[in-house]
Amino acid sequence: MWCRYLLLLAFLFSFIHNGTAGVTSEFIRSEFPAVDIPLDHEVFAVPKGYNAPQQVHITQGDYDGKAVIISWVTPDEPGSSLVQYGLSEGNYEYTAKGTFTNYTFYTYKSGYIHHTHVDGLEYDKKYFYKIGEGGSARKFWFKTPPKVGPDSPYKFGIIGDLGQTFNSLSTIEHYKESGGETVLFVGDLSYADRYQYNDISVRWDSWGRFAEQIAAYQPWLWSAGNHDIEYLPYMGEVTPFKTYTARYPTPYQASNSSEPLWYAVRRASAHIIVLCSYSPYVKYTPQYKWLEGELKNVDRTKTPWLVVLMHVPWYNSNDAHFKEGESMRSVFESWFVKYKVDVVFAGHVHAYERSHRISNINYNVSTGPCYPVPDKSAPIYITIGDGGNQEGIAGKYIQPQPDYSAFREASYGHATLDIKNKTHALYHWFRNVDGVKATTESFVLHNQYWCLEKMYPCI
Ligand SMILES: [Fe+2]
Repeated sequence: MWCRYLLLLAFLFSFIHNGTAGVTSEFIRSEFPAVDIPLDHEVFAVPKGYNAPQQVHITQGDYDGKAVIISWVTPDEPGSSLVQYGLSEGNYEYTAKGTFTNYTFYTYKSGYIHHTHVDGLEYDKKYFYKIGEGGSARKFWFKTPPKVGPDSPYKFGIIGDLGQTFNSLSTIEHYKESGGETVLFVGDLSYADRYQYNDISVRWDSWGRFAEQIAAYQPWLWSAGNHDIEYLPYMGEVTPFKTYTARYPTPYQASNSSEPLWYAVRRASAHIIVLCSYSPYVKYTPQYKWLEGELKNVDRTKTPWLVVLMHVPWYNSNDAHFKEGESMRSVFESWFVKYKVDVVFAGHVHAYERSHRISNINYNVSTGPCYPVPDKSAPIYITIGDGGNQEGIAGKYIQPQPDYSAFREASYGHATLDIKNKTHALYHWFRNVDGVKATTESFVLHNQYWCLEKMYPCI
C-alpha cells in the first residue's frame, strides 16, 4: 500500500516539477450546424462533360515517394484508365495505364473506379497530369517529396473525422492555406454510414467530389475509422470496409503488409506507420506480426521522424470513446516506447487533445503501477478527430483533467507538422472559429532519436 502511495506521490510531483499541469481550454466556439451540406451545393458539383472524371484523389504509390496512385470515378461508362503526365503544363510526355473496378452496395451500382499507378517519378518535382477523354478531360498537378533523407524538410497536414458539413468545409479551406504538402488522415472519411440504403453511396460520391479540391493535388495517407467499416446486415452488406477499400487504395504491398488497412511509407524525413484500430492486432495476428517487422525496418539515420497514425486514441480524456483504445495500447505501447516513436495521431473523438510524454507499460496485471507515468522515451499522443462531421463536437471531458493530458479543447480544426531537419519540427493546431483560422497551440517537437537517444544538442 505504502509503495502505491509513494509511486503516486512521485508521479504527481514529476508533473508539478516539470510545470506540465494540463490545460482545458474554455473557448466557446461558434460553429456551423452539424448537418451535411445539401447535395445541390457547389462543393459537390459534378464536373461538366459526358463521363468526366470526378472524385479525383491521389496517395503515395510506393515505399519511398517516387510513385503515386491516382484514382477517380467515371459515372457513365468505363472510359480510359490512362494518366498522361509530365513536368510542364500542357506537355504530357509520359503515360501510365491503370485499371478500373466497380461494385454494388445494396442496389446502388458504383461508377467506374479507376486506380492508376504512376511510378518512376523524380523527387522534388511538380508534375502535371491529365485524365479523361476529349472535351471531358481534366487536368491537375501534384508535387513529389524530396528524396528520403535525414535533413529533408517537409510539411504534413493532419485531418481527422472530416465528414461533409460546413464545418468540414471550413477545415479544408483553412488547410489549403497552411502550406501542407501531404495529408495524414486519421480515419472516418465521409460519414456516409449515417444515411441508409442507397443514400449511403450517394454520400460517398459527394464526399469524393468535396475532397477533390485538395486530394487531387496532394497525397492523402489514409487510415480507416469505424464509419468506414459499414457492417450493415439490415441491408445485406456485411463485408467490412467494402466501399472504403474500393475507392481509397493504399500502397500496402510496398511495405509487405497483407492488407490495405495497415501499411507504412517513408516520405522525406518521416517514416509513417498506419495502423487499423478495427483489424485484429493481438499477438500472432497479421497486423501484429507486420508491425513487429516494420518497426525493425525503421532507420532513423534515413528517416529521423517516426510517426504513427491510427483511428482510436490510446490517451483520451473526453467522455466520448473513453478507453476504447485500451486493448490496442496494451498490445503495442511497449514497442512505441522501445522504438521512440515521435508522435501518434488519432481521431475518433470529435475534439482536440494533446498528451505529455507518458507511458503505462509497467503494469503487468499482477504488479506495477496501473497508471501512466512521465516517460521521455514515449510519444506525444494527439487526438485530432475534429474535422467537423455531422455528429457534432464532443464537448464533455473527464474531470478533473488527468495528469497525462497536456491540453484539450472541444473545437474543430486541423494541424500541421512542419519538419525542419532531423532534430526539430514545428507543430501547430489551428482552430476553426467563425470561418477564420486561429493558431491555438504550437510547439517545437524535438526528435526522439537524435535528441534523446543520440543526445544531439537540441535546444
Ligand atoms: Fe470514429
